[in-house]
Amino acid sequence: MEFDEEKLREYCANPPEDVSLSDIDLGRIPRHISIIMDGNGRWAQARGLDRSKGHVAGVESLRETVTSCVRLGVDNLSVYAFSTENWKRPQQEVNLLMHLFGTTLLKELPLFHQENVRLRFLGDIEALPEATYQVFEEGLRETQGNTGMTFALAVNYGSRAEITRAARLLAQDVADGGLRPEDVDADAIQSRLYTAGMPDPELLIRTSGELRLSNYLLWQLAYTEFYVTKTLWPDFDRWELLRAIRSFQGRNRRFGGVASK
Ligand code: FPP
Repeated sequence: MEFDEEKLREYCANPPEDVSLSDIDLGRIPRHISIIMDGNGRWAQARGLDRSKGHVAGVESLRETVTSCVRLGVDNLSVYAFSTENWKRPQQEVNLLMHLFGTTLLKELPLFHQENVRLRFLGDIEALPEATYQVFEEGLRETQGNTGMTFALAVNYGSRAEITRAARLLAQDVADGGLRPEDVDADAIQSRLYTAGMPDPELLIRTSGELRLSNYLLWQLAYTEFYVTKTLWPDFDRWELLRAIRSFQGRNRRFGGVASK
């Protein structure tokens, strides 16, 4: 994607000692970066604060990450904001998160316009509280004409539920006579996932050091490079993102084939 190199250089002025923009090959920025944002609760607890303060601080990291990805010319950014399992959290925390999603989205709509960002959602958003759902719909409507980066928020998302849904849609198409069983292939499945039309992530970042996928994009991450950082999500910034991209660019991606020289 096109990007403004001068703006990017300005955005990345004053780097820390261990990483800077010159470590990055701007011609090989991942087309799709996905992030499991983890560690908000621990960040807050370490400061003697309520977990909710961690989520509020996490919104700031997300804003910086969206901006950083736009500056770098990333085509797609997706983030795991709320899983199908997260409903098991205390009701008060669930309520706060739902409220935060809605208010943040409304507040950030001007930023999305300014940066030409198009929103999409991964997951069953119709099952969300009405007020949150309405804001999400508004966000979709308002940004559908934007032609820059796609920002996909996974909310009420679970990969097994997503694949189950795709299987059900396929079964229905076969039952209706619109599809023959022998036509069910990877493309047929892919086009029925929430990510239909998006390229698979090239880079998955997980914060707070956990080494698991937590039911996230199981299909789409088949060949994705992983980068795990101990940094907690509220401490994640443009420099952490550059470290992740630098690590990604240092790898030899083989897709099951042999190593290239
Ligand atoms: C993980 O930390 C974070 C979440 C489950 C929520 C993510 C939400 C945000 C960053 C706010 C984003 C806002 C918008 C608008 C999408 P955790 O609570 O699992 O932390 P812990 O593992 O330390 O308990």
